[in-house]
Amino acid sequence: MKYRGKVLPITQLGEAVLRAKARPVRNFAAPELERLIADMITTMKQAQGVGIAANQIGFGVRIFVVAPEPNPRYPRAPQMPPLPMINARLVKRSKELTTDWEGCLSIPGLRAKVPRHKEIEIEFFNPDGLRHRAKLSGFVARIFQHEFDHINGLVYMDRVKDRKTFMTEREYRRLHGR
Ligand code: NI
Repeated sequence: MKYRGKVLPITQLGEAVLRAKARPVRNFAAPELERLIADMITTMKQAQGVGIAANQIGFGVRIFVVAPEPNPRYPRAPQMPPLPMINARLVKRSKELTTDWEGCLSIPGLRAKVPRHKEIEIEFFNPDGLRHRAKLSGFVARIFQHEFDHINGLVYMDRVKDRKTFMTEREYRRLHGR
């Protein structure tokens, strides 16, 4: 039996769970783990996200999913199957930063330019409890850093350097695509 996941309400900026540091996963055998990840992916896809953290559906645990694919919110995103990352760590980060647009499902209707490390080295556990190491760059590295911030109680607005880049989603779409 493969659980398909259900659409859950996305927590919104102002809710305490988004500002709390999430706790590590200890029991990888727990059946709830697979269900939580399935609910995260289903909820994210329905909202046209390219990533989601567990606290965005109300669970303060260190799990997020990186899942870029082209959609109306991110027409130029690369295509990648959803990759769940548990207890992730940022091992190395490039000095070089790159600035690009971000939005967040927990902060609907807004976009801004956010500087992020261009290249990162990361470590995480998959849902089977196996440890992985990876080097990420570009948009995928950006998503990782955005989601990693979420599980530490941060949102992209905290990282914005030039606040004048904030714009509404509608205006962003008018200027940057469809
Ligand atoms: Ni977000």
